[in-house]
Amino acid sequence: MLLLRRCHRLTRFGPLNTQRHQAAPAVASCAVRLRSGSSGEDQRSYQHAHGPSWRQALAGVLAGTGAVLAYGLHHHKAEQVDTIEKASALPIFTQEEVTSHRSLEDGVWVTYKGAVYNITEFVAMHPGGDKILLAAGGDLEPFWALYAVHKQEHVLEILAEYKIGELRAEDLKKQQSVKSSDPYSSDPERHPVLRINSLKPFNAEPPPEILTDSYITPSPIFFKRNHLPVPQVDPGSYRLHVEGLPGGALTLSLEELKTRFPKHTITATLQCAGNRRSEMNKVKQVKGLNWGIAAISNATWSGARLRDVLLAAGYGPDVAKRACHVQFEGLDKDVTGTTYGASIPLNKAVSEEGDVLLAYEMNGEDLPADHGYPVRVVVPGTVGARNVKWLGKIIVSAEESSSHWQQNDYKGFSPATDWDTVDFKSAPAIQELPIQSAITVPADGTAVDRSGEEVTVKGYAWSGGGREVVRVDVSLDGGKTWQVAQLRSSDKDQAPEVSPPPGRAWAWKLWEITVPLPAEAQELEIVCKAVDNSYNMQPDTVAPIWNLRGVLSNAWHRVKVKIREDESEE
Ligand code: MTE
Repeated sequence: MLLLRRCHRLTRFGPLNTQRHQAAPAVASCAVRLRSGSSGEDQRSYQHAHGPSWRQALAGVLAGTGAVLAYGLHHHKAEQVDTIEKASALPIFTQEEVTSHRSLEDGVWVTYKGAVYNITEFVAMHPGGDKILLAAGGDLEPFWALYAVHKQEHVLEILAEYKIGELRAEDLKKQQSVKSSDPYSSDPERHPVLRINSLKPFNAEPPPEILTDSYITPSPIFFKRNHLPVPQVDPGSYRLHVEGLPGGALTLSLEELKTRFPKHTITATLQCAGNRRSEMNKVKQVKGLNWGIAAISNATWSGARLRDVLLAAGYGPDVAKRACHVQFEGLDKDVTGTTYGASIPLNKAVSEEGDVLLAYEMNGEDLPADHGYPVRVVVPGTVGARNVKWLGKIIVSAEESSSHWQQNDYKGFSPATDWDTVDFKSAPAIQELPIQSAITVPADGTAVDRSGEEVTVKGYAWSGGGREVVRVDVSLDGGKTWQVAQLRSSDKDQAPEVSPPPGRAWAWKLWEITVPLPAEAQELEIVCKAVDNSYNMQPDTVAPIWNLRGVLSNAWHRVKVKIREDESEE
């Protein structure tokens, strides 16, 4: 009955695909479907959950973007007015009554700021899937503190639809006396220059024009990508657990990790799979944080080699016959206690040339809190998502990590795949990233003076899998003619430059070129494209590589710059 009522409600948002509707045998399946892909690189979208059709709603949910509340604001307003008018007549409930409604069968009730809501019918439409059931029978406030995306007017408008009464005054007082804590309150201070994409969890990138001023990115301006609150880890009681190898589990303290294994240092670039997503958004809206071109940074990392630790824990040829993956679990958790997790292929983890580190230092100092203190994995050449921070556990396994971020996120799809057709199982998890480059100077939309006679263009280039960038081409005329930029692979004052060993070019190259301004041009379309030592090149436009998650965005980078004529000549 409940299912019927709920599905009826879903039909209010537009035409349903009947087959799909019939195929949903239970309430849970609706919720599960909504759940997949719901907690990735995104701010979830409530607007979409109330969109014009539930399939579009689901797409929107998964798209996690701030699109417009399509399901008539008008409709909401009407209902809201109705609710407000009835407010005085609404019954008073005790906390006990609210608490007795904790399931789809008994009804799902919650409280928020002293009001009681029956959200049973909303559960299937919740952008975050059935996680909403965790709040059943209790107050929403602590959950909304964790998922700050809820603190928006339109979410309150949606909630208002489900109001059924008020909480008894003395129960409200009790609730208020339980100090509501913000799970992000112990997040570290951040440098104000960072451009924030989301505050809670904290995601930010440096301004592009300062990104390439330094070959090594200073830690405070290194891009930061967190899915959850930053955990506070006491270095004294910290333990790293290694499982899945003969001889049982190995447990290491921070001190043991530092003293039992040789310290190894590498310079490696980390890049988020969503770097340059904003360019995909210009083609068609995708799900995820709207990263610019600076979700990439370069640092030195020091720590124990993962290979050495696995060998000490009993890794040998026999293990290689049964295991294929090394899983990592972070110490950052969501409200259900689920930790961030990811995995990499075993051969990368144990290869002498793989240089995978259990890093405890970044740029010569203890890892900063945002970057995984006290220990993180650094998997050079591999997408940022596998470089698990605040590392708690390593598991050598026959299977990949079962985490959401390995299974239902950070995968690439065809431009033809949409949220109705996507099957996350059909695509491999992103590991090595493709060739990439971008222009950091001049910025798009700026102007250069004609009197300067030339323009200096700067940027970065990097390729995944240890492939070395061998060339960057720059064009001032949208790609009709090209010139080769100068590459730099160390700090300017650090000479001579040393080529990385073949297959181990983990760090980016910065590049620069100064070109005379074309006499007749009034505007320049500056373009860059890089080539790696496997002769991989970037695609020229975004549309053919567009994908619903907005990952792997590596088309030629383009900026438009005006030429400002000298006033005396005008
Ligand atoms: N590890 C944990 N435990 N939790 C996270 O949210 N984010 C991942 C990865 N490791 C993440 C994590 C992602 S998606 C990226 S891109 C990198 O960390 C970003 O690393 P940074 O914040 O040090 O730049």
